[in-house]
Amino acid sequence: MNEINNSKKLYSKAKKYIAGGISSQIRVLEHSEVPLFISNAKGSKIWDVDGNEYIDYIQGMGPNIFGHAPDFLNENVSKEIKNGMIYAAQFDKEIEVAEKSLEILNVKDWTVRFASSGTEIDQLLIRLMRGYTNRQLFVKFEGHYHGWMDSINYSVHPDLELAGDSSSPEAIPESKGMDQNTKNSVIIARWNDIDHLKQIFEKYGNQIAGVLMEPILANTNCIIPDDGYIQSVKKLCHDNGSLIAFDEVITGFRILKGSAKEYFDVTPDLSTFAKSFAGGFPIAMLAGKREIMNFIADGTVYHGGSFNSNVASIAAANASLDHMIGDKNFFYNLEQKGQKLIHGINALSKDLDIDIHAQGLGSVFSISFTEKEHIRDWRDHFTNCDENKYKSFCEIAFKKGIRLSSNGRVHLSTAHTENDLEKTLEVFKHSLIELKQKLSR
Ligand SMILES: Cc1ncc(COP(=O)(O)O)c(C=O)c1O
Repeated sequence: MNEINNSKKLYSKAKKYIAGGISSQIRVLEHSEVPLFISNAKGSKIWDVDGNEYIDYIQGMGPNIFGHAPDFLNENVSKEIKNGMIYAAQFDKEIEVAEKSLEILNVKDWTVRFASSGTEIDQLLIRLMRGYTNRQLFVKFEGHYHGWMDSINYSVHPDLELAGDSSSPEAIPESKGMDQNTKNSVIIARWNDIDHLKQIFEKYGNQIAGVLMEPILANTNCIIPDDGYIQSVKKLCHDNGSLIAFDEVITGFRILKGSAKEYFDVTPDLSTFAKSFAGGFPIAMLAGKREIMNFIADGTVYHGGSFNSNVASIAAANASLDHMIGDKNFFYNLEQKGQKLIHGINALSKDLDIDIHAQGLGSVFSISFTEKEHIRDWRDHFTNCDENKYKSFCEIAFKKGIRLSSNGRVHLSTAHTENDLEKTLEVFKHSLIELKQKLSR
């Protein structure tokens, strides 16, 4: 068993100065006795201040697509920041990143804007949808996450006791203190259910600015929607003069070269990107049709930010994109690694007769404990997945050197080796055996 005494000491000290001892709420949910304190990380591995080594599948909650501290990225950033860090002005590398991004996404006549986080860029997206359509309402789906701001932090993972009937879900705030007025602008819908969305459009059609979604639902079981769903949503939106927007903060520059747009062969009106875009450096990007983005271009829709397109983040994005463009098997290889784990986990489920279940894509997938073969939305997850079992499993795996995220999402990086994957499956096997014994006591 791994001792974490130094983490415990630092946690008590941190709590004196930092609210809750952590800087983002999800970090309290590490599968250790106290939130972990890290000394260093490289590639697929992370080391805590007690010297314990873990194969890391959190990978910064997704940004570290090349693993921790990739040399090529750090070298590029170190070189570029010698020339300054924030200019509050334009520079050529910024244009390069915009051009390369649009090329890699394979979109015509789109433009972009940069910001620093997924939360922030999704706010810009919502503002733009409203500004462009001159409408106030927008649709958000249960189980989807678009950052922690008041306008959108509703019904991410609501308790179904509170969330109302599935035909008319309530907007459940995820936090106290949110501006109650924002509730009037959000329509909560059941995802992966086109009939439900049709009913919403019948009722509110000409007031809906747009529909925002994670096209692959990475924040709930990494769900791939039914065939034709995304196409039908787009048609419904456009028939009603509304926009369709993809939040690709997780899936962007991770699942495929052209991200979800390529996966579904559906071009949305607007998309947001963040995590994997710059290998761990803070950057986010809104990309969309020129005609819509022109509302930002001419200042009709206001967008600001001191840290936007800072030198370090742009340098990192530039090097990341070069890396992705330079290796024609980049996305395929990443996908294969994850598929090995997905198949391995689902095989263990059969071999050991335990209801562990992996679903999603290879580059990002989810682990849950359920008898069902496919989870299709948040209500399905809430009803059929045993989160306590998942937590116990993670706690056991953690003690054996595998670091998993509290929300079930597994992030692969190019730094995960065959050896890591084999070790992981071996640890999972022993963890599941231990879990079964624990549950039968
Ligand atoms: C789909 C999605 N959108 C937006 C966000 C918010 O991004 P950030 O944490 O960078 O603010 C996240 C964060 O996990 C996300 O998963």
